[in-house]
Amino acid sequence: MSNPNIRTKVGNLELKNPVILASGTSGYGYELEKYIDLNQIGGFISKGIYYDPRPGNESPRIYETPCGMLNAIGLQGIGVKRFKEEIIPFWEKYDTLFGVNVAGESEDEYLKVVEYLEPEKRIDFFEINLSCPNVQAGGKSPSWDPEKTHSIIRGIKSISEKHIMAKLSPNVTYIEEIAKAAEEGGANSLSLVNTFVGMSVDIETRKPHIKNVFGGVSGPAIKPMALALVHKVFKTVSIPVVGIGGIVSAEDVLEFVIAGASAVQIGTATIIDPQSALKIIKKLSLLMNKLSYDKIEDLIGSLKTGG
Ligand SMILES: Cc1cc2nc3c(=O)[nH]c(=O)nc-3n(C[C@H](O)[C@H](O)[C@H](O)COP(=O)(O)O)c2cc1C
Repeated sequence: MSNPNIRTKVGNLELKNPVILASGTSGYGYELEKYIDLNQIGGFISKGIYYDPRPGNESPRIYETPCGMLNAIGLQGIGVKRFKEEIIPFWEKYDTLFGVNVAGESEDEYLKVVEYLEPEKRIDFFEINLSCPNVQAGGKSPSWDPEKTHSIIRGIKSISEKHIMAKLSPNVTYIEEIAKAAEEGGANSLSLVNTFVGMSVDIETRKPHIKNVFGGVSGPAIKPMALALVHKVFKTVSIPVVGIGGIVSAEDVLEFVIAGASAVQIGTATIIDPQSALKIIKKLSLLMNKLSYDKIEDLIGSLKTGG
């Protein structure tokens, strides 16, 4: 049995395998320390960080739905100062790739977060969460607007030398336009998708199951839609794409890679089983052997259409 090569690259980021832990589903990393060895995963992305600490939304904030879940955590976070003092020293113990998920209520706040954390060598890349409601824009998210997307990414690129991954929302009519705007703003890669807007109703109380009424849907329920969006974006841009949405198995990873993803992120699967990522990585080599695939990089975007 040969040993397939599962190393991959996302621009200048070199990953020992294509599996990254997605933002918001693995905390800051130390929460998973007793379940998995972080050195064995391809990369890790923190919960979204605003400049100041935030309490998040009122409970109930999560609810299980068929083949998935709804969440409206409201980007609860510890803020940049505590992040630097408490989390960076923890990350320094590991040699996996670490990304910070950057959040902002305004364009300025995204820049302030990046500016504060830019000197930290242990941060390998910034993932820009463009789905945050923008207070100045009446709650609209920058990820719905190509101009805002372009402007935020361009602003960040002008103050950061790190790899910038722009995270796109699926809640748009024409994702290709937003993807192009991020690429033209200077993004080094794109990650997609964030959660789909959803809701659920308790028919006895007639109240929403989520206090915030609307939440984000994640998990296997969103996989086919996420896969389609990844493929559309892959066909549109020339920077690498990182696939996210409902991945729970090695088979799912290969589907996303064949559709065009250079790497993937795993979110809800970690909430179901904190060891999911490691199990998926182990299975990936076995699966590639079974399918006689030698190298994951050869499969990226290898989808055969027509004929
Ligand atoms: C509880 C929870 C919290 C999340 N928090 C964030 C966040 O802070 N920033 C972000 O960009 N995405 C956040 N996400 C979105 C995930 O990173 C991911 O894009 C989404 O869940 C789809 O992947 P999945 O189906 O594998 O979970 C969160 C998702 C969940 C379920």
